[in-house]
Amino acid sequence: MALLVKHLHAFVTESKLTKEEWMKGLEFLTQSAAITDSERNEFSLLSDILGISSIVDVVSQPVGGTSSSVLGPFHSHDSRLQPNGVDLTGDQPGDRTWLHGYVLDQEGHAIENAEIDFWQNADNGLYPAQDSAQDPHNLRCKIKCAADGSFNLLTIRPHPYTVPTDGPVGALLAASNRSIWRPAHYHVIVSAPGYIGLVTELFPQESDYIDNDTVFGVREGLIVPFVKSSNVEIANRYDLDAPFYEVKFDFKLVKQT
Ligand code: BEZ
Ligand code: FE
Repeated sequence: MALLVKHLHAFVTESKLTKEEWMKGLEFLTQSAAITDSERNEFSLLSDILGISSIVDVVSQPVGGTSSSVLGPFHSHDSRLQPNGVDLTGDQPGDRTWLHGYVLDQEGHAIENAEIDFWQNADNGLYPAQDSAQDPHNLRCKIKCAADGSFNLLTIRPHPYTVPTDGPVGALLAASNRSIWRPAHYHVIVSAPGYIGLVTELFPQESDYIDNDTVFGVREGLIVPFVKSSNVEIANRYDLDAPFYEVKFDFKLVKQT
């Protein structure tokens, strides 16, 4: 607290903050509180667009594993456990994408009993919480990885997305001439007994806004190619028209000490 107060005071002194400006600041916080409830948290969004979530993430990241990234507001604790290899697509639109890889330790050995928690937005750019036409479980699942650490699932290519702009944070972004967009991404939480849990994202390398994520979540090691594939075994398994997209990514976890 002492350090926080020291820096807040330094900010007021250096910027020669006026009473009117401080009143505006308090109004901003009051408006943020007014629209925050169990479904929506404007303070989390403020933390995200100020880059605070991201820098907290970077300074608390254990050394040696896959980079972590922001959690965002659309994770669900009720995600269903699905078999490894699940097809999440059903009959919805979207470019079919086979996501696969391994959960490994720092030496590159398979981790047993690893679990993946996966979620993303639909082809219209929306998450189920924003779109009542979607089943709440659409394009999300938990998977227990195989004994060799491998996981795979069929999903769709994700889409760039705007953060919610109907509250004070949206007004702040507009007033600061800031982008409201996030690049396309998959969200993944990887966990395994004895290892530090990983909250991260994967970003298609060709996505718009990859260099200008309004919540600063992109890390170099998390940008992945979406490769066109005509793998017959996978096309047959999921009854796909080739080519489909393939994304391979291995997650590295750090041991708990
Ligand atoms: C998202 O990934 O969906 C997200 C992350 C931070 C703020 C808003 C949305
Ligand atoms: Fe997201």
